[in-house]
Amino acid sequence: EASHFELITRVTAIKKRMGDRLFIPGHHYQKDEVIQFADATGDSLQLAQVAAKQYQAEFIVFCGVHFMAETADILATPHQKVILPDMRAGCSMADMANINQTERGWEKLKQLFGDTILPVTYVNSTAAIKAFVGRNGGATVTSSNASKMVEWAFEQKDRLFFLPDQHLGRNTAFDLGIPLTQMAVWDPIREKLEYEGDLDQVKVILWKGHCSVHMNFRVDHIEQIRREDPSISIIVHPECTREVVGLADDAGSTKYIIDTIAQAEKGSKWAIGTEMNLVNRLKNDYPDLHIRSLNPTMCPCLTMNRIDLPHLAWILESLERNEIHNQITVDKDIAYDAKRALDKMLSLSS
Ligand code: 13P
Ligand code: SF4
Repeated sequence: EASHFELITRVTAIKKRMGDRLFIPGHHYQKDEVIQFADATGDSLQLAQVAAKQYQAEFIVFCGVHFMAETADILATPHQKVILPDMRAGCSMADMANINQTERGWEKLKQLFGDTILPVTYVNSTAAIKAFVGRNGGATVTSSNASKMVEWAFEQKDRLFFLPDQHLGRNTAFDLGIPLTQMAVWDPIREKLEYEGDLDQVKVILWKGHCSVHMNFRVDHIEQIRREDPSISIIVHPECTREVVGLADDAGSTKYIIDTIAQAEKGSKWAIGTEMNLVNRLKNDYPDLHIRSLNPTMCPCLTMNRIDLPHLAWILESLERNEIHNQITVDKDIAYDAKRALDKMLSLSS
């Protein structure tokens, strides 16, 4: 088995040899051993934007999870191949909404609300869900533009069907002034709408999905940390629950968290509620700050972590031999409709 150092040397050499033919986007949650080779790093919005601009690259080796590679393929030109170094790098949240469940839920909601409802989906969803949204006039959102996109959606229709993360949907709508009593939850397993109060008043229907990583940051962690140190600032990702976001000092996408920490006062103390690799990277990058994870046991995204240096080296060496493994290709019809939903978002995001 090759040593870590040997793998670094091999990947460095291949990147040099392949030059512009190769482009490697890396999500902020990726391991350092992978991120060091990324040509662009970013949150899901930035990576979608960057992927749309890589005209010259023949191969886009996506260091992130499956739905991100699908998005890159949808936005890529036909000659480009998008490759995922390990096919097991999925997203448990995206897996919580499949297209059949979605079509069935949509039928029920149309019966209840007629034509007053617009679907929107977090980019953390399959290409088929994005296509469903595109076909029905909606758009994708990411955690960094969710607010803007939800406002846009309310200019189109009176109600929203927000897939698949109930927490990002609830936090975004709440921040825009929509009370919790005007939000309902669609349970795709029981095929039931859960709500309190008056159905006519419901403005947001949240798909009952969540991120298992961000569910690990809990109210008791916030209480414990505040007891230990009332002067600490707590910042979390909006995939955390409403209670956690409500109690934290601040919340935002991975990019927002990075920008906030970059501007933090020397010596200030921070507890961060997001994926482990990013928290550790910030800790290393800002030794003048006191940074820790909001959950002391740390929270890795196991599927993001499937992409590692051995997989990256293996996939790049295969490419050099003209062997294509793990190519992500989205069916043409699905890609067409999904692109409508993505383009709407990209045209509204700077
Ligand atoms: P962002 O990259 O939009 O912050 O989302 C975090 C995430 O969970 C990606 O899977
Ligand atoms: Fe999916 Fe959560 Fe992992 Fe992001 S952190 S890829 S939402 S499971």
